[in-house]
Amino acid sequence: MKPKGLKILLTGGAGFVGSHLAEKLLSLGSVVVNIDNFDPFYSRAVKESNMSTQICNPDYRFICSDINTPDVIVGQLAGFSPDVIIHLAAKAGVRPSILDPIGYAQTNVQGTINMLELARKLNVRKFIFASSSSVYGSNPHVPWKESDLALSPISPYASSKIGAEYFGKTYSALFGINFIALRFFTVFGPRQRPDLAIHKFFSALTSDQPIIIYGDGSTRRDYTYVSDIVNGIVGALNRPLVPGEAKVYNLGNSDTVTLSHLVSEIEKVVGQKFSINYQPEQAGDVSQTYADVSLAQNELNFQPSTGLREGLEEFYNWFRMSRP
Ligand SMILES: NC(=O)c1ccc[n+]([C@@H]2O[C@H](COP(=O)([O-])OP(=O)(O)OC[C@H]3O[C@@H](n4cnc5c(N)ncnc54)[C@H](O)[C@@H]3O)[C@@H](O)[C@H]2O)c1
Repeated sequence: MKPKGLKILLTGGAGFVGSHLAEKLLSLGSVVVNIDNFDPFYSRAVKESNMSTQICNPDYRFICSDINTPDVIVGQLAGFSPDVIIHLAAKAGVRPSILDPIGYAQTNVQGTINMLELARKLNVRKFIFASSSSVYGSNPHVPWKESDLALSPISPYASSKIGAEYFGKTYSALFGINFIALRFFTVFGPRQRPDLAIHKFFSALTSDQPIIIYGDGSTRRDYTYVSDIVNGIVGALNRPLVPGEAKVYNLGNSDTVTLSHLVSEIEKVVGQKFSINYQPEQAGDVSQTYADVSLAQNELNFQPSTGLREGLEEFYNWFRMSRP
């Protein structure tokens, strides 16, 4: 499916990844309807600002609605008949999910089922879903491959993503929907969510506050730049439609670095040293993430091209511009 002229129903398009994706899809000639409820996890003003480059585009429409009110959504679609659903809306934090497992299940599992039902009712043939590296959990066999079925989730968030993936596979088998789950690995770049480490670290450093590091700094993450993730999603869109096929792909940078290394890279970008407050590791946090992306390379033409330092510099440019 080629993006030009494609009618796309996007959920979560006011958020970090979704707003970058909407921009890209519009630049490729797609028509985008974005459904987002401004979930209060972080500020509505930030999300409105995320959408500011898209909102005036005649090929873009925003519907402020909850994915758990599908009848309201159908009414607001007003006859819009999407070719594809790209479902990014979710409660997205790992640690908060431990305090609100039911809320996470309602949004991430039930909400996904609602969107799959919508796909079935509207005869949408392709459904792309934002899953997460967290599904691999404490699996020690890195780099993680999609064929490794030993998923070891250690947070309600991770379990909710596994649940949603399995519902997608079920809808694919029952109703012939081409379902593609993309497991994102720690996404960073301009507009990154304020709860994520890179954003928090830049905020602390530029306001002379100490940062909290949970553990000894040896945990590892496969930081992946947002435009690489967006290109991976477009790769999934471009993949020829195969009715009834359900696929899972890792979208990561395939380059895992320690938290201590991340901190030293941020210090170099800002030109300032952190004051660090070390705290015990947090429940729900995995010790490492590391993607094998060979499947996405082969089948989605996925080629991550922005390294950590360059991406941090892009983040810092945006961060300085976006502050009052
Ligand atoms: N950012 C990452 O590092 C990362 C990593 C792995 C997976 N993901 C997944 O990618 C997707 C996008 O993540 P993000 O970082 O852009 O998060 P985000 O919080 O910035 O965006 C998610 C959007 O979903 C919306 N939303 C939440 N609940 C909703 C509901 N009930 N109805 C309608 N809209 C709702 C929110 O308002 C928000 O705008 C999520 O599914 C997330 O789980 C993100």
